[in-house]
Amino acid sequence: MSQANSLSVPHLLGIKDLTKEDITLILDTAVTFKEVINRPVKKVPSLRDLTVANLFFEDSTRTRISFELAEKRLSADVINFSASSSSVKKGETLLDTVNNILAMKVDMIVMRHPAPGAPHFLARHISARILNAGDGTHEHPTQALLDAYSMREQLGDLEGKKIAIVGDILHSRVALSNIFCLKKLGAEVKVCGPPTLIPKYITSLGVGVEHDVEKTLRWCDAANILRIQLERQDIKYFPSLREYALYFGIDKALLNRLDKPVVIMHPGPINRGVEITSDAADSEHSIILQQVENGVAVRMAALYLLAGKRQ
Ligand code: CP
Repeated sequence: MSQANSLSVPHLLGIKDLTKEDITLILDTAVTFKEVINRPVKKVPSLRDLTVANLFFEDSTRTRISFELAEKRLSADVINFSASSSSVKKGETLLDTVNNILAMKVDMIVMRHPAPGAPHFLARHISARILNAGDGTHEHPTQALLDAYSMREQLGDLEGKKIAIVGDILHSRVALSNIFCLKKLGAEVKVCGPPTLIPKYITSLGVGVEHDVEKTLRWCDAANILRIQLERQDIKYFPSLREYALYFGIDKALLNRLDKPVVIMHPGPINRGVEITSDAADSEHSIILQQVENGVAVRMAALYLLAGKRQ
């Protein structure tokens, strides 16, 4: 059982492993850190005794920079590792790479990897704390936590709130982590997209399925719009991007037609003109850049709590 001020898990591998109390503790702790990062001096000494390694085996802009900033705002020493410029290219295994980094007295590992389960494998073989920064199509726990934090800022307690996830659900680690997180917080969740991009098992997670985007937006309080992940698609799931945009894309005219407030979110990177047009992404409905800001506070909270620091 989790205590009021500590997590029930040694690593942040996925939202599936967290209790509702763990999630609430991270979100509540992030409120304090959001205040810190908005001060003139944006730094606290909480992790000054720790060294964190950011291991990125897959491309990233937001998550990599957000983790590095979170670590620096907590005064940790930080090293960054990019697989494309490392001895991984010479055939070194993941475990050898990580053990060599840990031999240099690194305390925590943040890792993004294209293989689902890669951080879970590491957790069975090393003692350092691990934070999953996205493992293939599996989970992206800090994205779901920052999304929940951002929804909570807009909507209050998420119990009973109606949240839609629109787009490429099949290939999305953001969708799976969001579903676990939102369901644990008591929200109602619907996914919307072409039938080919919605996995058949999804209803077993307690979510509804809809294929009409306007109907979905009329139903929900907030909608998380996802990118079509062409880089993970080895076959064609819909006729063309133009057709996808026509039937599932969000534009400002559609948002105006709703005649009700809907919070529009996107984890990034955005493919403008495909899943969302610029006039919708940059509209008053959108909190996309607030999500990015909140990501630093949420990652500070996760690092701080996993390091065993207490508020
Ligand atoms: N949202 C997200 O994970 O973005 P990056 O791939 O840029 O980190």
